[in-house]
Order: sequence, then structure tokens, then C-alpha cells
Amino acid sequence: MSQLTESAVRDLLRIVIVGHVDHGKSTLVGRLLHDTNSLPAGKVEEIRAMSERRGMPFEYAFLMDALQAERDQGITIDTSQIWFNSSKRNYVIIDAPGHKEFLKNMITGAAQSDAALLIIDAVEGVREQSRRHGYLLHLLGIRQVAVAINKMDLVDYSEARFQEISHEYRAYLTELGVTPTFILPVSAREGENIVTRSGRMSWYDGPSIVGALDCFVSEPLSSNLPLRLPVQDVYKFDERRIIAGRIESGRISVGDEILFSPSNKTAKVKSIEAWPSSQPVRTQAAAGYSVGITLDEQIFAERGDTISHVINAPIETDVFRARLFWLGHEPMTLGKMYKLKLNTTEAQVQLQKIEAVIDTGDLSSAAATRVERNQVAEVVLRARRMLALDAFNDKPATGRFVLVDEYDIAGGGIISMDGYADQRQLITKRSTNIVQVDQGVSDDERARMNGHRGGVIWFTGLSGAGKSTLSMELERRLFEKGYSVYVLDGDNIRFGLNANLGFSPEDRSENIRRVGEVAALFARAGMIALTAFISPYRSDRDRARAAMPERFHEVYVKADVQTCETRDPKGLYQKARRGEIKEFTGVSAPYEEPEAAELVIDTAAHSIEECMAQLIAYIEANFSLRAADRKPG
Ligand code: ADX
Repeated sequence: MSQLTESAVRDLLRIVIVGHVDHGKSTLVGRLLHDTNSLPAGKVEEIRAMSERRGMPFEYAFLMDALQAERDQGITIDTSQIWFNSSKRNYVIIDAPGHKEFLKNMITGAAQSDAALLIIDAVEGVREQSRRHGYLLHLLGIRQVAVAINKMDLVDYSEARFQEISHEYRAYLTELGVTPTFILPVSAREGENIVTRSGRMSWYDGPSIVGALDCFVSEPLSSNLPLRLPVQDVYKFDERRIIAGRIESGRISVGDEILFSPSNKTAKVKSIEAWPSSQPVRTQAAAGYSVGITLDEQIFAERGDTISHVINAPIETDVFRARLFWLGHEPMTLGKMYKLKLNTTEAQVQLQKIEAVIDTGDLSSAAATRVERNQVAEVVLRARRMLALDAFNDKPATGRFVLVDEYDIAGGGIISMDGYADQRQLITKRSTNIVQVDQGVSDDERARMNGHRGGVIWFTGLSGAGKSTLSMELERRLFEKGYSVYVLDGDNIRFGLNANLGFSPEDRSENIRRVGEVAALFARAGMIALTAFISPYRSDRDRARAAMPERFHEVYVKADVQTCETRDPKGLYQKARRGEIKEFTGVSAPYEEPEAAELVIDTAAHSIEECMAQLIAYIEANFSLRAADRKPG
């Protein structure tokens, strides 16, 4: 209890300590507790006496075992908490008996940590296990990481050995996208570099472990984070409509302009009602409070909406990545629908892709087509509609979800938007007071004039799959047959119309949004627009289709990454593999294959001539007007 009251005043940092059992985890924790004077009075003496009775030399590791044993009764989650404090702040070490329990607690939100301390044995160096521990940090998105290279006493406090391990491990972590903030040489047994700087490693000029931990920042108070108020219900009282919910983060004030997601509507807060009515009327409320608000105008809001401010709004997307812990009796299977519960939102989501399944015992990962009970997996989920969500890395409190299979909670996960775009900008209409007018010439008139209908042939596929080659050749052949046809090509359009766009997920989506609209204009002008863009995202292609729903034909130019990489016409794959191009499709950025393309052209299996024949036949069948319909003269 005293710890609790104290921690309410002092800053608290939650850390997880990971390391192979033999690498000295318990000794290090014992040392930390002892050297920071965080042990209950008499504890060390008690254990020394016990060791003597058993004829064993005293070990710091016994401290942790003793504390563990005391806590083993009466814990509801599979994690124990060990407290210690530095002169700066309080710490709680989140400890779990194994990876499985640990991952389950972290992913489902039963336990959460701000930072990690990872231990490597200086004698053994980087082992498979150390790599997997690094992967665990990547899975959980922990970004404040200190790596302790322990047992330096056994390698004569050698700088060369320390440098060797630290280079190797830093390179590995960087590959995973984890940047270690500190790598420190320590000896837990001898107490070197634990609380104070060691005198035995004068070559090292960084901080001690406690010094390093003191540099980390703890999660800001949730009331200081951006506003998230998930709508629980909308009540009608006399003339007023009261929107009720619990503030998950941030604060809300009367007069604030607020944004509803995913509907993207804004309004101003008129009042914050007393809720329950015994409470005094307020003009502001913060995280943790349940409130009822009224608005200055009637806009449609419903349970599941998320209220935020206009800046720092949640992400809008219908597809996202997740790292999830599966608890279901039935395995999680590709293509199956599950009910997603995210704050107060419920939505159907489909398991689109399993990127890796991780064994929670040894943290090894493998490709798989299903996720079994007690496995952790990295997956892509797709919803039937737009969702408002947060990435766990930015907002741990609202960045997690639960999946329901039939009626049972079957999994918990954390959200990542790596490689996927926030689609809010693509669906927000900014203009008001605009009215559509009819064109002077109808589609039919244009078709009769041209001898064919206008439309969009949308080529999609990896870079090097053959989109440009096929579309340019097709343009020439159709032109010679009298078609009015034009190619919009990815590289070309990026010299002009889309010169201001790069290859971030948002820029790609905007690229495709514009091209989708332009292609639809060409089609309405009576032409056949051939578009050659990677267009890696399904949602973007669906939006392009929606711009010309009657005559949009998706053509999947199919060639797998290996094939495209062998061709590598522009040498870009090579560059991407060398890390010189970031976010390269198929290598370091996603490509979502079409699910229901009108046409699939397999360029790995067919010659250009064969592909041309297939395409021309398709276009004649779908676009050409019979001679009788053509306008004479
Ligand atoms: S899209 O993803 O936004 O649809 P787009 O088709 O316009 O891409 O442009 C793809 C072309 O840009 C590729 O053929 C390639 O020549 C070049 N390119 C440059 N950087 C990248 C990258 N990071 N990923 C994919 N293509 C790239």
C-alpha cells in the first residue's frame, strides 16, 4: 500500500526484463533490489542465513526466488511485479514465468511495460534465444530498450568482447526496427555498473543500468494524450440528445470542436451534462470520467463512433496489421470472419493474411495458414467498412482489440499500421455548396461516334510484373484497330500530375485516388484508359472502381516477387535489397493481390503475344459496338 501511495506521487516506469535463464536474469534483479535498497528489512540476512543452513554460498538470485515464492499465492494474472526505486523514480519489473504468459498479458493488456532490459551473457554472446528476445520486443512495439551484456567479470572486463557482442546485436535489432537506446557492460554478480559506474571498465563511458533506466520516459498521464471518447450510447432527453461515453484519454471542454470517426463529421460541444445526474455540472472532463455531452448542431452519432479533436484524430482504415494472441478453441483460419471489438465499436473482420506464427515457447517464427490456440501471430485483418483506430505504438490504451469467434472471446491483439495508409484524407470531402451538372454530350453519343464504349482497364501488379510493357503494347494494337485509347503509366504520371507524391502508404493511396478519378474522366470522355500502376492496396483499387463502376475492369498482371526480381528491369529490386530504397513493394512494403480481378494475366507463364491475344479478345468483347450500332458516316 505504501508503495502505491508513493508511486502516485513519484514517477513510475514499468520495465520488462528478458534474457535466457542462464544469462543471469535473477542475479541482476537481486542485485538491482539490493543495491537500490529496495528490499524489505532483514530480507538479505534471512536469505544469507538460509543459504548457510543449506550449506550453499549466498547468491543474489535467491532474492528473486524468495520474493517470487511469496507472491505466488493470490495473483490473478500470470505476471508478478517486483518493485524497486532509484533516486529518481519508482520501478516495477513485470516478470512472467514464461513467454506464453508474458505475451498473453502484454498483448491482452493485463500488463504493459514502458521499457525493456535485455540480458546477454558476455561469455556465450548472441545466441538464438537472444535474437528471439529481440523479436519479442519488436512484437510488442517496445521502443525503449537497454541491453545489458552481463558476466563481464568472466571475460576479464574485456572491451573487445563487449564491442563484438554489441555490434552483432545492434545490427540484429536494427534489422527488426528496434533501436537499442543503451548497450551496457555489467557484472551482476560483482555489482559492476548496476547502480553506479564501474571502476573496472574505465574504457566504458556510458551510464550504469539504473542510470540508463532513469533516462527512459514513462507513459504520459492518459489525460495528457489526445482525446479519445468512444460513444457508448446516444440518449434522447426532452429536446436534447446526449452522447454518452467514457473518456479513454485526453480531455474535453465545452466549446471544443470535436470530430466523429469514422463518419468524419464535426460539431461543437455545447454542454457537458452531469453524469450521473448527482454530479455537479462541469465545463471540462478528463480521461477516466464518464460524460454525457450535447452538441451545437444535430449530427448523426451512434454507439461505436470515436470522438476526438480535429488534430490528432484516430486513423481511418478498413485494413490493418495486428500482432495477436489466439485463445480460441478453433484455430484462426485464413478468409474467416471474426467479430472485432475495439473500444465500443463492433465490426466484422476477415483474416486476410498470416505473415508469421510465433511459437510462444521458444519464440521461433514460421509461415502458416492457421493460428492455433496459444500461438502469437502477425496478421493482416480487413473490415467490411471504415474503422477508426489507433496504432498501439502511438496509443497503447486504445490501440488494442479483442476478436470474438461465434460467442467466445478468441483472441486479443495490438494494432500496427506498418505499410498501410491512414485513409481519412481520401474520404473527406472539403467543398460545400457544390451541385453536379449534366454533360452536354451523352455517353451513348460518344460511344456511337467512337465505335466503342469508354472504360478503364486497370492493370495492377508488382514492379517488373509487366504492367507498362503490356499496356503500351495494347495501346498500340488497339489504336491501330481504331480505338480511342491512352495509357496512364505510374512512372509517367509521377513526373507531372503526381510529382508531389512519394511512396509512403498515404502518398500511394493519394496517387491511386487521383489516377482513379482521371481514368474515370477519360472513360467518360469516351476513351479506353489503360492504367499501369502497382496500386498495392485493395481499398484504393476499390475506390478507383467506384469512380467508374459500370465499366471498370481490373487486370491482375501476375508474377511473383522472385520472377520480378530476376527481371529487375530498372535495377530497383537490387537497390531495395541493399536497403537503398525504403518501402519497396514486395520487399519492404505490402502488395495485396486482387481477390476478384476480371482478368488475370500470368506473365511468368505466358509470352507477350499470348497475353496480347487474351487482352484484345477481352476488350473487343466488352467494349466494341456491333457494326449496326455505329453511327453511319
Ligand atoms: S504505386 O504503388 O503508387 O501504385 P506506381 O505504380 O505509381 O506505384 O509507381 C511504381 C514505380 O515507381 C515502379 O515501377 C518503380 O519504377 C518506381 N518506384 C520507386 N520507388 C518505389 C517503391 N518504393 N516501391 C515501388 N515502386 C517504386
